[in-house]
Amino acid sequence: MNKKVVIIGGGPGGYPAAFLLAQKGAQVTLIEKDKVGGTCLNRGCIPTKVFLEASHILRQIKTGSRMGIRAQEVNLDFSKLSRYKDSIVDGLVKGVEKLCEVRKIRIIKGTGFLEAPQKIRIKESGELIDGDTLIIATGSVPATIPLAGVDGVGVINSDDALSLEQIPPSIVIIGGGSIGLEFGQIFHALGSKVTLLEMLTQVLPNEDSDVAVELERAFKREGIQIRTGVNVKEISGEEGQKKVQYTVQNQDQSVEAACVLLAVGRRPNSAGIGLEKVGVKTEKGRIVVNGQMETTAAGVYAVGDAVGGVMLAHVATAEGHTAADNIMGKSHPMDYKAVPRCVYTYPEAAAVGLTEAEARKVHGEIMVGHFPLQASGKARMVGGTGFAKIIAEKRYGGIVGVHLVGPHVTEMIAEAAAVMNLECTCEDLAYTIHPHPTLSEMIMEAAMAAEGYKIHSL
Ligand code: NAI
Repeated sequence: MNKKVVIIGGGPGGYPAAFLLAQKGAQVTLIEKDKVGGTCLNRGCIPTKVFLEASHILRQIKTGSRMGIRAQEVNLDFSKLSRYKDSIVDGLVKGVEKLCEVRKIRIIKGTGFLEAPQKIRIKESGELIDGDTLIIATGSVPATIPLAGVDGVGVINSDDALSLEQIPPSIVIIGGGSIGLEFGQIFHALGSKVTLLEMLTQVLPNEDSDVAVELERAFKREGIQIRTGVNVKEISGEEGQKKVQYTVQNQDQSVEAACVLLAVGRRPNSAGIGLEKVGVKTEKGRIVVNGQMETTAAGVYAVGDAVGGVMLAHVATAEGHTAADNIMGKSHPMDYKAVPRCVYTYPEAAAVGLTEAEARKVHGEIMVGHFPLQASGKARMVGGTGFAKIIAEKRYGGIVGVHLVGPHVTEMIAEAAAVMNLECTCEDLAYTIHPHPTLSEMIMEAAMAAEGYKIHSL
């Protein structure tokens, strides 16, 4: 099949689709106005994880004294850390470019605009690119809120937060989702006094409440202020001296800080590329797609944050894979049943499937197994707090949700995603031999607990 595919957007939705299509024999053109790698590589997952890794190392040095490890003087050279972050990002961007070159994918640097479903004009050069299939993978941009002072100086978003030259002595973060929490810990580790304001009753409002409670407790223990149930009213003040006024249970309160970070979500980036012109339907900015990632215009697919839903890099990649398969004639519906969700704080949080409250609503009778991190031998050495929680529906024992908090749990959640994908029962997982001593044993022990018996906990 001699397919000519054009992809707009070279992030974790677009570039993996390009690679898979090229390997399946398609002729691929990738249009990217910035650097390949998209938000994830340039302004999201990767640079934030470099900062979080540095903050974990700092924490380990400080807590190493429990084992008799004494470090005399520990300090951080922020400009060196920033250069290190840039070098990691640059290396990965070059890697993606090289993989494109080897796979004979043409990268066009410019902004694509749809003149017709398969005719894309490059705004900067005027070149007209045509293909027989198009994938839109234009990602998302930070969302904002209608609030007095939100556009003022000293109010930044996550993109700005990654390119600061100096660390503010204090910062108010509005929004307690993954961006708010991860930046909360980054700034705290870098020496800022952090106050985090969340509108809803818990941080990570879409996650299991046990996860939110555990993280809130850990953050407060570290000295990060978290206020939930706040209604932010106004941001005022000069650069370096900002004031955020808010109410909690109708009581007026305020907090002052050098800087305010807005972390209230992201919105699909679908405006200004000519979608309406070619019949691609959008709803509140998100591109409407079917289970094969096809839009409402024939031969036009869309993947990643631009289609809304679960805006995660690995979901974008899975959607890109789905689109690539379907374009090349292999029927492959997108399946969202086992999407891992990770927050790279300390402790880390990772989940897949339903929360306990959702599982009760969907399945009625459920089994819930808990295993506290402290009952694990390996966890005692590693330190930290957390738990494993497994939720199964009672009828067949099928696992419907797994929630982990603790060190390295973001590395462990793939096991839970695999067992959910394979539709294993809780008993299957409880009988799966896990190596000892490892942190992963807590998944097996939680599965046992859901089945009604326990080894290392009461
Ligand atoms: P989010 O939607 O996850 O969280 C935004 C938070 O802001 C919510 O808790 C919401 O209740 C709160 N909020 C909204 N308006 C508010 C207001 N006026 N006052 C106070 N709080 C308010 O969005 P976030 O954290 O900005 O992340 C954006 C996207 O990036 C998400 O899709 C997220 O999944 C993704 N992301 C994923 C990461 C990861 O997987 N580790 C890391 C960072 C971002």
